[in-house]
Amino acid sequence: ESPVAVLCSGGDAPGMNAFLRAVVRLGLNRHHVPVLGIRDGYRGLVRAAKLANVDSESLVRLKQEITNNPGKRGLIDSQQSIIQMDHASVSGIMGKGGTILGSARCLDFHKREVRDSVVKLLKDLGVRALVVVGGDGSLTGARLLAEESDLRIIGVPATIDNDLQFTEMALGVDTAVHTLVWAVDHFIDTARSHRRVMVLETMGRESGDLARMAALASGAEMVITPEIGALTAEKMAAYAEEIEGAMTRGRGHAIVLIAEGVKFDPPQTRNGAYVLRDAFQNYFEREGAPFQDLEVRPSVLGHLQRGGHATPGDCILAARFAEEAWKSILNHDNENGITALQHNKVTIVPFGCEDMPERAETSSAMDRLHDDLASW
Ligand code: F6P
Repeated sequence: ESPVAVLCSGGDAPGMNAFLRAVVRLGLNRHHVPVLGIRDGYRGLVRAAKLANVDSESLVRLKQEITNNPGKRGLIDSQQSIIQMDHASVSGIMGKGGTILGSARCLDFHKREVRDSVVKLLKDLGVRALVVVGGDGSLTGARLLAEESDLRIIGVPATIDNDLQFTEMALGVDTAVHTLVWAVDHFIDTARSHRRVMVLETMGRESGDLARMAALASGAEMVITPEIGALTAEKMAAYAEEIEGAMTRGRGHAIVLIAEGVKFDPPQTRNGAYVLRDAFQNYFEREGAPFQDLEVRPSVLGHLQRGGHATPGDCILAARFAEEAWKSILNHDNENGITALQHNKVTIVPFGCEDMPERAETSSAMDRLHDDLASW
């Protein structure tokens, strides 16, 4: 049986390991097809392609290893970029954060000649399909491979940013929201005790989805996302006024989530949490203000949001994505595509497919819900 190869690329996301476990076990148990794990994303493939280029013997050895020992675990090439996965190689990894295969961002992969060398390697190895698990940039790489070759390529969305508009959820989002709810709970203790305003910056790149989901799930008083447009001094003063109003009505603290993608007018080089802290603090301390001793504390939550044990929701989605990926690999219409969750059903969408209009609607509905639920 010609093998299927799998790699994780870009920023790691909880749920990647659950996916690897599912894709390997389904391959071996249900479909009897060997699975090769590629270390360090596209970077590992590029490394292996370079090695095969200078040492063609290594490629022959690699091929023999796959053919002679299907399903047997082994580090295949001398640089350990390609591993044959067996049952045990994915034991006990279900909820573990990160990815056992390692991940990387690979700038080299932007070059056509580099992608061509990788296509040649995969073909020489007789790989029947490549499964790419990752976010926006990684799936763009997968789309290019699909367009430029006749290899079967399946993408699997995994990013805590939830910025892929063709799927309701990507792997990692549920866990990251869970982590943010935990973080907000911790910040609330201090906020309440000191009657403070906490400004917490979340990840998410250009998208505010992670921040708004976390706000809805944690009950944070305020959430500021990139979708509302650039923040001017006036807009920041209006937010501060809103907080001051709530304090006047007896509110003792406030948690404000700001997504990292929020832009400012004029543009700022510092993290949004710090810019907002200064704007709020200046507003609260203005002459004659009612809460001049109100303190604002900023925190940039950073990579904390990418780690930790994957939630059951992410593990289940990972298994469903793996099943759909196999279905697509084994059907004979040779369609490439990306697994997606649409209307709560797992499906395959073509690379470069249209955005789901419902995604934007869901985001604005969440914003309205949050506004009406905030106990201001
Ligand atoms: O795409 C996931 C993400 O965590 C973004 O939210 C964030 O902007 C970026 O990756 C951080 O990248 P890095 O881990 O390379 O610093």
